[in-house]
Amino acid sequence: MGLRHRLFALTYDRQLAKVEKAGLQELRQRLLANAGGRVLEVGGGTGANLPFYGSGVDSLTISEPEPPMLRRLERRVRAQAPETKVVRARAEDLPFDDDTFDVAVSTLVLCGVDDQPRALRELHRVLRPGGRLIFIEHVRSDEPGLARWQDRLNALNRFVACCDCNRRTLDSIRAEGFEVADVEHTSLNKVPPFVRPLIAGTATAAAKPPLV
Ligand SMILES: C[S@@+](CC[C@H](N)C(=O)[O-])C[C@H]1O[C@@H](n2cnc3c(N)ncnc32)[C@H](O)[C@@H]1O
Repeated sequence: MGLRHRLFALTYDRQLAKVEKAGLQELRQRLLANAGGRVLEVGGGTGANLPFYGSGVDSLTISEPEPPMLRRLERRVRAQAPETKVVRARAEDLPFDDDTFDVAVSTLVLCGVDDQPRALRELHRVLRPGGRLIFIEHVRSDEPGLARWQDRLNALNRFVACCDCNRRTLDSIRAEGFEVADVEHTSLNKVPPFVRPLIAGTATAAAKPPLV
Protein backbone atom coordinates (compact mmCIF):
# COMPACT_ATOMS: atom_id res chain seq x y z
CA MET A 1 0.00 0.00 0.00
CA GLY A 2 1.60 3.22 -1.18
CA LEU A 3 1.92 6.75 0.11
CA ARG A 4 -0.46 7.84 -2.66
CA HIS A 5 -3.29 5.70 -1.25
CA ARG A 6 -2.59 6.96 2.25
CA LEU A 7 -2.67 10.58 1.05
CA PHE A 8 -5.83 9.90 -0.98
CA ALA A 9 -7.60 8.55 2.11
CA LEU A 10 -6.32 11.38 4.30
CA THR A 11 -7.54 14.12 1.96
CA TYR A 12 -10.62 12.42 0.45
CA ASP A 13 -13.36 14.06 2.52
CA ARG A 14 -11.75 17.49 2.18
CA GLN A 15 -11.28 17.05 -1.59
CA LEU A 16 -14.91 16.09 -1.99
CA ALA A 17 -16.52 18.62 0.36
CA LYS A 18 -17.36 21.18 -2.36
CA VAL A 19 -18.43 18.45 -4.79
CA GLU A 20 -20.80 16.99 -2.18
CA LYS A 21 -22.39 20.40 -1.56
CA ALA A 22 -22.64 21.06 -5.31
CA GLY A 23 -24.97 18.13 -5.92
CA LEU A 24 -23.29 14.82 -5.11
CA GLN A 25 -24.81 14.60 -1.64
CA GLU A 26 -28.28 15.27 -3.02
CA LEU A 27 -27.76 12.49 -5.58
CA ARG A 28 -26.55 10.03 -2.91
CA GLN A 29 -29.62 10.84 -0.80
CA ARG A 30 -32.06 10.43 -3.68
CA LEU A 31 -30.68 7.12 -4.95
CA LEU A 32 -30.01 5.50 -1.59
CA ALA A 33 -33.55 6.22 -0.44
CA ASN A 34 -34.42 3.25 -2.70
CA ALA A 35 -31.99 0.82 -1.03
CA GLY A 36 -33.74 -1.81 1.07
CA GLY A 37 -33.44 -5.36 2.38
CA ARG A 38 -29.95 -6.89 2.54
CA VAL A 39 -27.60 -4.24 1.17
CA LEU A 40 -23.95 -4.51 0.12
CA GLU A 41 -21.90 -1.40 -0.62
CA VAL A 42 -18.53 -1.90 -2.32
CA GLY A 43 -15.58 0.49 -2.08
CA GLY A 44 -17.18 2.27 0.84
CA GLY A 45 -14.26 4.71 1.23
CA THR A 46 -14.69 6.95 4.26
CA GLY A 47 -18.40 6.08 4.59
CA ALA A 48 -19.91 9.04 2.75
CA ASN A 49 -23.11 7.10 2.00
CA LEU A 50 -23.80 6.06 5.59
CA PRO A 51 -26.16 8.94 6.50
CA PHE A 52 -28.41 8.18 3.54
CA TYR A 53 -29.48 4.59 4.19
CA GLY A 54 -33.07 4.49 5.34
CA SER A 55 -35.27 2.34 7.55
CA GLY A 56 -35.98 -0.09 4.68
CA VAL A 57 -32.47 -1.50 5.05
CA ASP A 58 -32.51 -4.79 7.01
CA SER A 59 -28.74 -5.29 7.01
CA LEU A 60 -25.84 -3.28 5.65
CA THR A 61 -22.43 -4.70 4.71
CA ILE A 62 -19.70 -2.40 3.40
CA SER A 63 -16.55 -3.66 1.73
CA GLU A 64 -13.36 -1.66 1.22
CA PRO A 65 -9.91 -2.99 0.25
CA GLU A 66 -7.53 -0.16 1.19
CA PRO A 67 -6.44 -0.11 4.87
CA PRO A 68 -6.21 3.72 5.20
CA MET A 69 -9.80 4.05 3.91
CA LEU A 70 -10.90 1.05 5.95
CA ARG A 71 -9.72 2.65 9.20
CA ARG A 72 -11.73 5.81 8.45
CA LEU A 73 -14.75 3.75 7.46
CA GLU A 74 -14.61 1.72 10.68
CA ARG A 75 -14.44 4.90 12.78
CA ARG A 76 -17.46 6.37 10.99
CA VAL A 77 -19.42 3.13 11.25
CA ARG A 78 -18.75 2.97 15.01
CA ALA A 79 -20.04 6.54 15.40
CA GLN A 80 -22.98 6.52 12.99
CA ALA A 81 -24.18 2.97 12.28
CA PRO A 82 -22.56 0.41 14.61
CA GLU A 83 -24.75 -2.44 13.35
CA THR A 84 -23.06 -2.21 9.92
CA LYS A 85 -20.70 -5.04 8.97
CA VAL A 86 -17.39 -3.86 7.50
CA VAL A 87 -15.32 -6.28 5.41
CA ARG A 88 -11.92 -5.85 3.78
CA ALA A 89 -12.38 -6.99 0.17
CA ARG A 90 -11.95 -5.96 -3.44
CA ALA A 91 -15.09 -5.80 -5.54
CA GLU A 92 -13.42 -8.33 -7.85
CA ASP A 93 -13.30 -10.97 -5.05
CA LEU A 94 -16.33 -10.64 -2.83
CA PRO A 95 -16.31 -13.08 0.10
CA PHE A 96 -20.05 -13.81 -0.05
CA ASP A 97 -22.20 -16.67 -1.32
CA ASP A 98 -24.26 -16.35 -4.49
CA ASP A 99 -27.61 -14.52 -4.13
CA THR A 100 -26.75 -13.03 -0.70
CA PHE A 101 -27.98 -9.47 -1.26
CA ASP A 102 -31.08 -7.63 -2.49
CA VAL A 103 -29.25 -4.42 -3.35
CA ALA A 104 -25.63 -3.55 -4.19
CA VAL A 105 -24.30 0.01 -4.13
CA SER A 106 -21.30 1.39 -6.01
CA THR A 107 -20.59 5.11 -5.85
CA LEU A 108 -17.41 6.40 -7.54
CA VAL A 109 -15.88 2.91 -7.38
CA LEU A 110 -16.22 1.27 -10.81
CA CYS A 111 -13.88 3.99 -12.17
CA GLY A 112 -11.07 2.65 -9.99
CA VAL A 113 -11.40 -1.12 -9.64
CA ASP A 114 -8.54 -3.00 -11.32
CA ASP A 115 -10.84 -5.25 -13.36
CA GLN A 116 -14.22 -3.67 -14.02
CA PRO A 117 -15.90 -6.62 -15.84
CA ARG A 118 -14.85 -8.99 -13.06
CA ALA A 119 -16.12 -6.61 -10.35
CA LEU A 120 -19.49 -6.38 -12.12
CA ARG A 121 -19.68 -10.17 -12.47
CA GLU A 122 -19.04 -10.48 -8.73
CA LEU A 123 -21.76 -7.92 -7.96
CA HIS A 124 -24.12 -9.87 -10.21
CA ARG A 125 -23.18 -13.15 -8.53
CA VAL A 126 -23.82 -11.96 -4.96
CA LEU A 127 -27.12 -10.26 -5.88
CA ARG A 128 -30.23 -12.41 -5.93
CA PRO A 129 -31.91 -12.66 -9.35
CA GLY A 130 -33.84 -9.43 -9.76
CA GLY A 131 -31.64 -7.70 -7.18
CA ARG A 132 -30.66 -4.11 -7.91
CA LEU A 133 -27.36 -2.35 -8.43
CA ILE A 134 -27.50 1.34 -7.47
CA PHE A 135 -24.68 3.29 -9.07
CA ILE A 136 -23.24 6.79 -9.22
CA GLU A 137 -20.13 6.74 -11.41
CA HIS A 138 -18.07 9.25 -13.37
CA VAL A 139 -17.54 7.98 -16.90
CA ARG A 140 -16.28 8.54 -20.43
CA SER A 141 -18.02 11.45 -22.15
CA ASP A 142 -20.44 10.78 -25.03
CA GLU A 143 -19.00 13.90 -26.63
CA PRO A 144 -15.98 12.80 -28.77
CA GLY A 145 -13.93 15.96 -28.17
CA LEU A 146 -14.15 15.67 -24.40
CA ALA A 147 -13.59 11.88 -24.55
CA ARG A 148 -10.31 12.52 -26.39
CA TRP A 149 -9.25 14.92 -23.60
CA GLN A 150 -10.19 12.28 -21.05
CA ASP A 151 -7.86 9.82 -22.83
CA ARG A 152 -5.02 12.37 -22.88
CA LEU A 153 -5.43 13.32 -19.22
CA ASN A 154 -6.15 9.88 -17.83
CA ALA A 155 -2.59 9.23 -16.61
CA LEU A 156 -2.74 12.47 -14.60
CA ASN A 157 -6.16 11.53 -13.27
CA ARG A 158 -4.87 8.09 -12.25
CA PHE A 159 -2.01 9.73 -10.36
CA VAL A 160 -4.18 12.28 -8.53
CA ALA A 161 -7.45 10.43 -8.03
CA CYS A 162 -6.37 6.75 -8.26
CA CYS A 163 -8.95 5.98 -10.97
CA ASP A 164 -9.72 6.22 -14.72
CA CYS A 165 -11.80 9.11 -16.03
CA ASN A 166 -12.56 7.49 -19.40
CA ARG A 167 -14.36 4.19 -18.71
CA ARG A 168 -17.49 3.10 -20.58
CA THR A 169 -19.08 1.94 -17.34
CA LEU A 170 -22.72 1.88 -18.50
CA ASP A 171 -21.78 -0.42 -21.41
CA SER A 172 -19.93 -2.70 -18.96
CA ILE A 173 -22.90 -2.82 -16.58
CA ARG A 174 -25.09 -4.00 -19.47
CA ALA A 175 -22.43 -6.41 -20.77
CA GLU A 176 -22.21 -8.19 -17.41
CA GLY A 177 -25.86 -9.19 -17.21
CA PHE A 178 -27.63 -6.16 -15.77
CA GLU A 179 -30.67 -4.47 -17.26
CA VAL A 180 -30.45 -0.73 -16.74
CA ALA A 181 -33.80 0.28 -15.26
CA ASP A 182 -33.13 3.99 -15.03
CA VAL A 183 -30.14 6.18 -15.64
CA GLU A 184 -29.56 9.88 -15.38
CA HIS A 185 -26.72 11.37 -17.42
CA THR A 186 -25.60 14.29 -15.33
CA SER A 187 -22.36 15.85 -14.13
CA LEU A 188 -20.15 16.11 -11.09
CA ASN A 189 -19.81 19.77 -10.22
CA LYS A 190 -16.73 21.58 -8.91
CA VAL A 191 -14.32 19.18 -10.61
CA PRO A 192 -12.26 19.60 -13.81
CA PRO A 193 -14.31 19.09 -17.02
CA PHE A 194 -12.67 15.75 -17.86
CA VAL A 195 -14.06 14.20 -14.63
CA ARG A 196 -17.55 15.69 -14.91
CA PRO A 197 -19.59 13.21 -17.00
CA LEU A 198 -21.61 11.21 -14.47
CA ILE A 199 -24.16 8.41 -14.61
CA ALA A 200 -26.53 7.73 -11.72
CA GLY A 201 -29.21 5.07 -11.68
CA THR A 202 -30.34 1.55 -11.03
CA ALA A 203 -29.76 -1.73 -12.88
CA THR A 204 -31.41 -5.08 -12.26
CA ALA A 205 -29.48 -8.35 -12.14
CA ALA A 206 -30.97 -10.60 -14.79
CA ALA A 207 -31.64 -14.21 -13.81
CA LYS A 208 -28.47 -16.35 -13.83
CA PRO A 209 -28.20 -18.91 -16.63
CA PRO A 210 -28.77 -22.47 -15.36
CA LEU A 211 -25.60 -24.50 -14.62
CA VAL A 212 -25.02 -27.24 -17.20
C1 LIG B 1 -13.36 7.58 -5.05
S1 LIG B 1 -13.44 6.52 -3.68
C2 LIG B 1 -15.22 6.40 -3.42
C3 LIG B 1 -15.56 6.12 -2.00
C4 LIG B 1 -17.06 6.07 -1.69
N1 LIG B 1 -17.70 4.98 -2.41
C5 LIG B 1 -17.74 7.37 -2.01
O1 LIG B 1 -18.75 7.35 -2.71
O2 LIG B 1 -17.29 8.40 -1.50
C6 LIG B 1 -13.09 4.92 -4.39
C7 LIG B 1 -13.03 3.83 -3.35
O3 LIG B 1 -12.90 2.55 -4.00
C8 LIG B 1 -11.93 1.80 -3.31
N2 LIG B 1 -11.36 0.78 -4.20
C9 LIG B 1 -10.21 0.82 -4.91
N3 LIG B 1 -10.02 -0.34 -5.57
C10 LIG B 1 -11.09 -1.11 -5.29
C11 LIG B 1 -11.48 -2.43 -5.66
N4 LIG B 1 -10.72 -3.16 -6.49
N5 LIG B 1 -12.62 -2.92 -5.16
C12 LIG B 1 -13.41 -2.17 -4.33
N6 LIG B 1 -13.09 -0.93 -3.94
C13 LIG B 1 -11.96 -0.40 -4.42
C14 LIG B 1 -10.92 2.84 -2.86
O4 LIG B 1 -10.10 2.36 -1.83
C15 LIG B 1 -11.84 3.95 -2.43
O5 LIG B 1 -12.25 3.80 -1.11
